[in-house]
Amino acid sequence: MIGVRNGARSCARLAAVGAHVPERVVTNAEMAAAVDTSDEWIATRTGIRERRFAGPEEASSDLGVIAAQRILAAADLAPDELDMIITPTASPDHIFPSTAAIIGERIGARGAAAFDLSAACTGFIYGLAMATGMVETGLARHVLVLGAETLTRVTDQTDRATCVLFGDGAAGALISAAAEDEATGFLGFELGADGSGGPDLILPAGGSRIPALSKPSRAESCINMNGREVFKFATRVMIDSCTRLLEALEMDIAEVDLLVPHQANIRIIDYAVERLGIDPERVFNNVDRYGNTSSASIPLALSEAHDNGLLSPGDLVMMVGFGGGLTWGSTMARFEPA
Ligand code: ACO
Repeated sequence: MIGVRNGARSCARLAAVGAHVPERVVTNAEMAAAVDTSDEWIATRTGIRERRFAGPEEASSDLGVIAAQRILAAADLAPDELDMIITPTASPDHIFPSTAAIIGERIGARGAAAFDLSAACTGFIYGLAMATGMVETGLARHVLVLGAETLTRVTDQTDRATCVLFGDGAAGALISAAAEDEATGFLGFELGADGSGGPDLILPAGGSRIPALSKPSRAESCINMNGREVFKFATRVMIDSCTRLLEALEMDIAEVDLLVPHQANIRIIDYAVERLGIDPERVFNNVDRYGNTSSASIPLALSEAHDNGLLSPGDLVMMVGFGGGLTWGSTMARFEPA
C-alpha cells in the first residue's frame, strides 16, 4: 500500500464481519473422557459446553483464509483492494513470516501491508484501533482486522485447568473509509496494559527467552495461567474499561444496542454485565459453543450476532476484551455495512 496524507479526512466504518470455525466439535463429555473433569464442572464454572478443534493439518492461517474470504464477500470487496491486513493472534503459524502475510498471499491481497499483532485476547480491539488510525488519517482505505487462532495447539491437553477453556477459530472485520461524520464510525477506544501481570498468563517458550532450540519442557511450551488472578483482573477491567469509555463519550450504557464481550467465561461476563447495568438481552454470548478463541472471540460473537439478525445497520455496538499482557480494551462503534 501507499498512503499519503492529503488533508482529506475520512471516517473509519465497521463495514463487514465474518468468521470460520473448524468442523470438529469437542464436547465437555469428550474432555471428561481425556482428563479428570466433568461436564457439570466445566459448564457451571465457565459456561462452556463445547469447543472446536482444528484438524491435524490445519494451522491458524488456514482458518483465517476462509474467514477473510467471507468478510470480503460480505463487503463485495476485491482482495487486491485491501491496503492492510492486521492479524491479532496468540497462536501464529510461525514467529515469522506473519500469519497476516500468509493469509494475504492466499486470498490474493497483492500489495497489502500485513503484520501480526501480539495482545492475546485483546488483540482484536487493539487491531481495530490501529485500523481506525490508518483509515482516519487517510493512509489506508480498507483494512482487514482478522483474529486467527489454533490455541488448542499451545494448550497442554492433559492439564484440566486450561485445556477445557480454549478452542480454535478465525474471525474479523473490514474497516473501510467513508465520508467524515463525527457521530458515526468508531466513536472511541479505551486501551491499556499492565505488564506486571504478564506471568499470570504466559506461553513461556518459542521466543528469545526460551528459544525453541533449547528444547523447552512441555510446561514451557504451553499456556500457563493463574486462573484466579486472571478472573479477578478480567472482571475489574471489563467494568472499568467500559465505564471509562462511556464517560469519555458522555454516553449511557442504555444507549448501547449490543455489548459483545470477550468470550472467556460466562461468570466473568455475567458479573460485569450486572455491575454495568446493561440489560442481559442486549449482550451477545456464544462461549457455550466455542470456548475461548482468544483474538477471534469478539469478532466470532459479532459475526454470529449479525447472522442471527441481532445487528442492524446503524446499531451502536460496544466491544470489550482482556487477556495476556495483561491487556484490556474497549470500543464503541456503529455497525455500518458497505
Ligand atoms: N475440572 C475439574 N476441576 C478443576 C478443573 C477442571 N477442568 N480445573 C480446575 N479444577 C479444580 C482445581 O484443581 C481446584 O481444585 P482444588 O480446590 O482441589 O485445588 C478447583 O477446581 C477450583 O479451582 P479454581 O481455579 O479456584 O476454580 P475457579 O472457580 O477459579 O475456575 C477458571 C477456574 C475457570 C480457570 C477461572 O479461574 C477462570 O475462568 N479464570 C479466568 C481465565 C481466563 O479468562 N483466561 C483467559 C484469558 S484471555 C487470554 O489472553 C488467553
